Amino acid sequence: MRKPIIIGNWKMHKTTDETIDFLKQVDNVCHDLKLEAGIAVPFVNLAVAKQHAHHLIIAAQNCHYEDFGAFTGEISVEMLQTLKITHVIIGHSERREMFNETNETVNLKAKKILAKGMVPIICCGETLQQYENNETQQIVETQIEKALQGIDFEDAKTIVIAYEPIWAIGTGKTATAEIAQNVCAIIRAKIANLYDEVVANMIRIQYGGSVKPENIQELLAQPDIDGALVGGASLEPKTFLGLLK
Ligand code: PGA
Repeated sequence: MRKPIIIGNWKMHKTTDETIDFLKQVDNVCHDLKLEAGIAVPFVNLAVAKQHAHHLIIAAQNCHYEDFGAFTGEISVEMLQTLKITHVIIGHSERREMFNETNETVNLKAKKILAKGMVPIICCGETLQQYENNETQQIVETQIEKALQGIDFEDAKTIVIAYEPIWAIGTGKTATAEIAQNVCAIIRAKIANLYDEVVANMIRIQYGGSVKPENIQELLAQPDIDGALVGGASLEPKTFLGLLK
């Protein structure tokens, strides 16, 4: 059985004080969860979030694929590791669209994260136009194939994939559970094709895009959806806890 994993993606939200305040309200009520849960906070708040999180995963929202060097403004995986960060979101559509993230850099980042024994949360998903042109399968399969290139079977099993149709992010338009399930099944079949059934059955696939307490249950009831990557609804303690319930 795959353990569900729900991660709040805070994007560029919350100051240090707001982060501490959230964790004081949320972390201690998360002690006997039957799933993995966490929040991905901005870099500057990772260290303080780690200090206040005893049950929640604290994840980063990006990293660089080089160990060190002249990369102004960037953060290496080793820097995250020394903060005891275990999970890193990579390839989010906002980073692909606004910050030149490509399938190739996602692959380099995934390998670096895995080499440090950490978990990459690899995002994929199609634009509205691609969706309307019936290109979802081809786009998502290509993103997955390129992201996983050169990653061995053992490492592949530990990866988390987040399917996030871009037309559903922050728009209030959730993909129906049926659409989300279909694409997540396509992703799992692609992984079986790239690796084998064992790896495909172990990899966890999250759905992301306007997930809320009202729709999460139906989404997570789908056989190939093992969790959620949640933006807007993860910012308020009450709604975040509503998602975990
Ligand atoms: P949303 O964002 O839940 O606000 O749609 C999801 C995401 O971008 O990960």
